[in-house]
Amino acid sequence: MAISSSSSSSMLLFPLLLAGVLLPSVVANFYQNVEITWGDGRGQIKNNGDLLTLSLDKPSGSGFQSKNEYLYGKIDMQLKLVAGNSAGTVTAYYLKSPGTTWDEIDFEFLGNLSGDPYTLHTNVFTQGKGNREQQFKLWFDPTADFHSYSILWNPQRIIFSVDGTPIREFKNMESQGVLFPKNQPMRMYSSLWNADDWATRGGLVKTDWSQAPFTASYRNFKEDACVWSNGKSSCPNGSSQGTSGSWLSQELDTTSQERMRWVQKSYMIYNYCTDTNRFPQGLPKECIAA
Ligand SMILES: *[C@@H]1O[C@H](CO)[C@@H](O)[C@H](O)[C@H]1NC(C)=O
Ligand SMILES: *[C@@H]1O[C@H](CO)[C@@H](O)[C@H](O)[C@H]1NC(C)=O
Repeated sequence: MAISSSSSSSMLLFPLLLAGVLLPSVVANFYQNVEITWGDGRGQIKNNGDLLTLSLDKPSGSGFQSKNEYLYGKIDMQLKLVAGNSAGTVTAYYLKSPGTTWDEIDFEFLGNLSGDPYTLHTNVFTQGKGNREQQFKLWFDPTADFHSYSILWNPQRIIFSVDGTPIREFKNMESQGVLFPKNQPMRMYSSLWNADDWATRGGLVKTDWSQAPFTASYRNFKEDACVWSNGKSSCPNGSSQGTSGSWLSQELDTTSQERMRWVQKSYMIYNYCTDTNRFPQGLPKECIAA
């Protein structure tokens, strides 16, 4: 292919072809796969749909959501978080079903003063009930570059990963009486908002509006998922799409389990499963059986 061609159309085509060859499933285009739902222009899709930015200033934050709903899936996104003094800001990226007994799988990035580390907050809600927080520090500066954050949700487990390293697993323990999200389709949501009443050092550090607007960037959204439509979920066809359906039965192999234990040992800063003061009547069942 003539890369030096002066034709602008072939210049545009080349990166698309390259992406198609290198990636196992097609990376989504933000124009096609998400919609900006609030923020009055503070959320923007750029670079032909390759980049999305959310911003926050004193009057408002902003947010977007996937057009599709999923009943199981592997959702990947690359995020570059608000840089500098991000104290008081929260960037949320999660899956959630509607209603009052909703299911939800959360990543939330709690900002901090310049030089102080972000907190990565995770939670799992089943039928409207959460209280399953685990928090982590990251082993890199999440504002210096894009990093990928993934949620794998299949009938046996939910796995949270950062740059391909699993940090948390929530197993299906229905047999032991723990609810698991399995029949409410969820959509992907993301937002950037002000939460300075609680986010940074428990609300002690407030948002410094002289630094506004705050901006977070997104790229490479991938939805490898069973898409919900007209009351039915259609999963990718294993035979017609190579191994793309393998996430549906994926589990953590020994190496991945070791890596997860390393992250939890070195970077976990809060774990509801060890918070005995919080659960005087006994830890949640999934914590004991795990
Ligand atoms: C912010 O930095 C302080 C000091 O290192 C730390 O105690 C805190 O956990 C960090 N994160 C948040 C969200 O407050
Ligand atoms: C799924 O694979 C089967 C078997 O190869 C094929 O007959 C069917 O048409 C495929 N369905 C889709 C939606 O690709």
